[in-house]
Amino acid sequence: MSDETRWITQAYGGYDMKDLPNEPDRELTSVAPGSPCGEYMRRFWHPVAMSEQLGGKPVAIRILGEDLVVFRDLSGQVGLVHRHCAHRRMSLEYGHIEQHGIRCAYHGWLYDVDGTILETPGEPEDSPICKKICLGAYPVHEYKGLVFAYMGPPALKPDFCHYDSFDIPDHELVPYSIHSPCNWLQESENSIDPFHSCFLHGRVNGPQFPGLEHFVELPVAEYLQIDYGFVYSHARRVGEHIMVRFHDHLTPNFAQNGGMFQKFSKPTFFGRPSLTKWVVPVDDTNSRKFGWRHFNDKDEVLRQGDKESVGWEKVDFYGQTAHRTYAEMQENPGDWEAWSSQGPINIHKREYLATTDKGVSMLRARLKKHIRNIDKVSVPSGTLEKPLHTYGGDTVLKIPKRLNDERELLSEIQVKIRDVYLKGDVYEGEDRVDFLKRTLAELSQ
Ligand SMILES: [Fe+2]
Repeated sequence: MSDETRWITQAYGGYDMKDLPNEPDRELTSVAPGSPCGEYMRRFWHPVAMSEQLGGKPVAIRILGEDLVVFRDLSGQVGLVHRHCAHRRMSLEYGHIEQHGIRCAYHGWLYDVDGTILETPGEPEDSPICKKICLGAYPVHEYKGLVFAYMGPPALKPDFCHYDSFDIPDHELVPYSIHSPCNWLQESENSIDPFHSCFLHGRVNGPQFPGLEHFVELPVAEYLQIDYGFVYSHARRVGEHIMVRFHDHLTPNFAQNGGMFQKFSKPTFFGRPSLTKWVVPVDDTNSRKFGWRHFNDKDEVLRQGDKESVGWEKVDFYGQTAHRTYAEMQENPGDWEAWSSQGPINIHKREYLATTDKGVSMLRARLKKHIRNIDKVSVPSGTLEKPLHTYGGDTVLKIPKRLNDERELLSEIQVKIRDVYLKGDVYEGEDRVDFLKRTLAELSQ
């Protein structure tokens, strides 16, 4: 078998597996400092911890292959510093949190949140150490229960990007975080694959999400590349309606989708996301999802779910965590099993990508392009006053069936809706929402 051969082509060909490629695509999956994907990832702000983790003790975390501690000092400032003391490398997870900064338990060196050394109590008073060296530290931004960090070159630090979905009127954002024992890309790819929903969440073991039973229908999907990633959508007919779900998938690792408990029984115009999330690499073989579930008591869809079941290692919809028995996982596997069981790092050369993998292929190609042209990468920018527009959510229109070419109709309708979404970009805030709702209502018959 030559190096090029990637698949078994004979029945009972298991023995030939030994000759298949077995190396992961390091360019897309290695995240350590200095690695191509690691350097690319470090150009963006990522959530690295939940505010609720920050109590009286420092918290040891690992992000992008770096061992760190995160803490809130007694003045309220959050610090994210390298885990090992700059002196003799005792872990600062055993450090003492002070009014300003964290003190190493070993010889009492005190570090401010920015890594500067404030005190070296065992050294002579005129010791130059405080002025001479620092502990590695990263800037942080705490927002709505998540602690974000920028771990890239200081000179290239972008402002923290505000998305419009962070501040939707009446939306309550409830933070959560879940670990997966696999490379970040496997989990992220799940969010740009609308076809798995038909099978994993529907046909194979029965519907997993109440309200989304009609996801068993194979959708028609449309993908649009935008500056910062993808807006993609998938459409299905539900009775006299066509439902179109839009997703934001912004590179490298941000995604949003529509209502978790959407029923689609009546027209909906520019429904907003119920989930905003990032898949953050812990290291090459572990990842941690951080995100917010959106709740809105005034909205039929967004008041569904259970806030109490959203938080550290938990979220209120099926199959997202490891916390089930093996028997339960086998009985009805969910998303978590799908991405985790591909192995610590999936071997792309052993896959056989097919029609349903268009999004995955586009994502990988786009990531590679960015990684190889890192100096041309544009980082999303959005401010509190002028946040970056996103499109994730559901639109449901009443559209009569078109006999013979219903799939073509599904394609046309979602492109029409998408065009309206993009036209709405000239407006901001409520003006934009009003424009979109009004214009989409005109499309519904
Ligand atoms: Fe899924």
